[in-house]
Amino acid sequence: MSFKTIDRHIIDMERTHPEATGELSGLLTDIALAGKIIGHEVNRAGLVDVLGLTGTENVHGEAVKKLDIFSHDTLVNIISGGRGEIYMLGSEEMEHPLSLKDTIPGGKYIINFDPLDGSSNIDANVSVGTIFSILRKYPNANVSETDMCRQRGIQQVAAGYIIYGSSTMFVYTAGQGVHGFTLDPGLGEFILSHEHIQTPKRGKMYSINEGNSNKWNDGVRRYISYLKEDNSADKRPYSARYIGSLVADFHRNLLYGGIFLYPEDKTNPEGKLRLLYEANPLAMLIEHAGGLASDGHRRILEIDPADLHQRVPLIIGSQYDVELACKFIQGKIST
Ligand code: AHG
Repeated sequence: MSFKTIDRHIIDMERTHPEATGELSGLLTDIALAGKIIGHEVNRAGLVDVLGLTGTENVHGEAVKKLDIFSHDTLVNIISGGRGEIYMLGSEEMEHPLSLKDTIPGGKYIINFDPLDGSSNIDANVSVGTIFSILRKYPNANVSETDMCRQRGIQQVAAGYIIYGSSTMFVYTAGQGVHGFTLDPGLGEFILSHEHIQTPKRGKMYSINEGNSNKWNDGVRRYISYLKEDNSADKRPYSARYIGSLVADFHRNLLYGGIFLYPEDKTNPEGKLRLLYEANPLAMLIEHAGGLASDGHRRILEIDPADLHQRVPLIIGSQYDVELACKFIQGKIST
């Protein structure tokens, strides 16, 4: 049985690029370390009441931080104290990107992240996750600092997530396949458990918040009705699976196949999810796993971002399913 830690895997991948400086590898290793720390804290979340940690101070007299703030601070501290790779970072928890150019001269990477997506589910023991997107600093000095964070998804050099669930997993791509690592809590190491993940070309599950159905446009409504029709020759109806925690919904569909939709609707005309640190990294992963990601009309990875926190409709998953959903949304199919 082969047994490979994430550090070993990242180094092996780096060796296939003789020009690599090790900076990206160092950054990925730092993110994995942050994931272990965040995962440890997420796993203790249920004990907060039992241990009397619900006030503003814990038993050590330290201020208790909300888990999403704790996750943000952990990532910022580890990444900015790492090996000097980072020029700038953007987080769901900060209004503006944070430039590190004065503290880390020469940093050449930019990271955008959602430190703890789905955190409103934590009290119910639902899986949550950290999502990250890594870009290169533009070599062009004329690009403003804020524009550095706002690059198209196609420019990502690596992307991934850490899911805190029944086990903690780190899933990433640096352009050479999608690989998953499961945390062995005894060893404290992420071990390669899912090498070269490929998502099925067609799934049997759809994931969407059906409570919003009265607010959907006709294309989405017709597509979801179509998936529920009885047609055994066409492998319908599909099964509904919706957790309401993006990383958990995405991870399940990545492994088993299927489609996740958070479309635009009357309340969320731009969709709900964020382009730069939710849709783009998951789109890079799904494309490298053989699937697709669209806003219904455009490839997610080719959308020009206007703002760090820009929202986007997201239709993501198995190739067959995303292509069909987009045809419904574009009015090319109206059954
Ligand atoms: P939050 O971090 O506030 O819990 O938001 C979760 C996000 C995302 O993880 C999930 O896919 C989506 O919101 C669910 O939204 P709905 O509750 O509107 O379905």
